[in-house]
Amino acid sequence: MNFLTDLNPMQQQAVKAINGPVLVVAGAGSGKTKVLTYRIAYLIEQGIAPQNILAVTFTNKAAEEMRQRVIKLISAMATLHPRGGATQEYRIGISALRQNIGTFHSICARILRHEISALGYKPNFTIYDDSDQNDLIKHLTKEANLDKQQFKPGMIREIISSAKDELLDPNQFREKAKNYIEETISQIYQAYQARLKMANSLDFDDLIFLTVKLFQFKPEVLARYQNYWQYILVDEYQDTNHSQYTLLNLLAQKNHNICAVGDIDQSIYRWRGADFRNILNFEQDYPNTQIILMEQNYRSSQN
Ligand SMILES: Nc1ncnc2c1ncn2[C@@H]1O[C@H](COP(=O)(O)OP(=O)(O)OP(=O)(O)O)[C@@H](O)[C@H]1O
Ligand SMILES: [Mg+2]
Repeated sequence: MNFLTDLNPMQQQAVKAINGPVLVVAGAGSGKTKVLTYRIAYLIEQGIAPQNILAVTFTNKAAEEMRQRVIKLISAMATLHPRGGATQEYRIGISALRQNIGTFHSICARILRHEISALGYKPNFTIYDDSDQNDLIKHLTKEANLDKQQFKPGMIREIISSAKDELLDPNQFREKAKNYIEETISQIYQAYQARLKMANSLDFDDLIFLTVKLFQFKPEVLARYQNYWQYILVDEYQDTNHSQYTLLNLLAQKNHNICAVGDIDQSIYRWRGADFRNILNFEQDYPNTQIILMEQNYRSSQN
């Protein structure tokens, strides 16, 4: 089936450029997410195993939408095969696809469930939400007799979170501390991290932070995932922060088959911690990048 006829020529080009780095830069409503969806279907049509494809989104909703759209495209392809979509191989492929299309957090959680013992945690770790984090931080500031007004738990939580986005552990954060407040927060960060570990728990930022750490300290583990995910796709690349950027960069290092889509106009300060330089530096990070610009806006012409 020629499902690519749904796409305009630039979109088709972006879908078909499956080897080497590709950066699609285009405005809102130009079909960036659609391109990623079709690209996954195209890769599979070209014989790439779903197991070898990783697609990363920012929200669970976006991931679920992408899963459903890809599965719809694939099953339309499968109906053309003699045994339809009923084969064992097809079912395994669909289940791999479901797992390999996910958010940064879900993908990292899955990696850590398998690998985290290398970092001294147990695989059945629990994940703290905002209020668990606040409770722990409140407890630690009280224990340290800190002034409640000056050291509000919400503020400390955000500073720790930004430190992890920047891949700074408590020691590295302390080295950068410029004043008494930051110095004190670095001590809270240290204690916070120790308590989390004692409770065999991670916060959301740890999911990405610890996965990056794992890959940096265990090249053999990274190599396994590089061999596994040979084709990487990323939506909303302009929204990546430093830890997310580094994670993708580590994974793409071996095969360089990374396709990022993003919008420079939507990049600046849209998302907390997002570093718009990531999209501007893509070409330097990945030599021989194909850049594809898509100009047509489908959303406004529909309205
Ligand atoms: N070639 C096309 N023909 C018809 N409709 C299209 C085409 N390309 C995209 N669309 C439609 O335009 C809308 C926007 O597409 P999509 O969500 O992929 O854009 P986007 O660039 O990812 O937008 P955003 O920047 O908001 O994430 C969708 O409804 C999509 O189906
Ligand atoms: Mg989109």
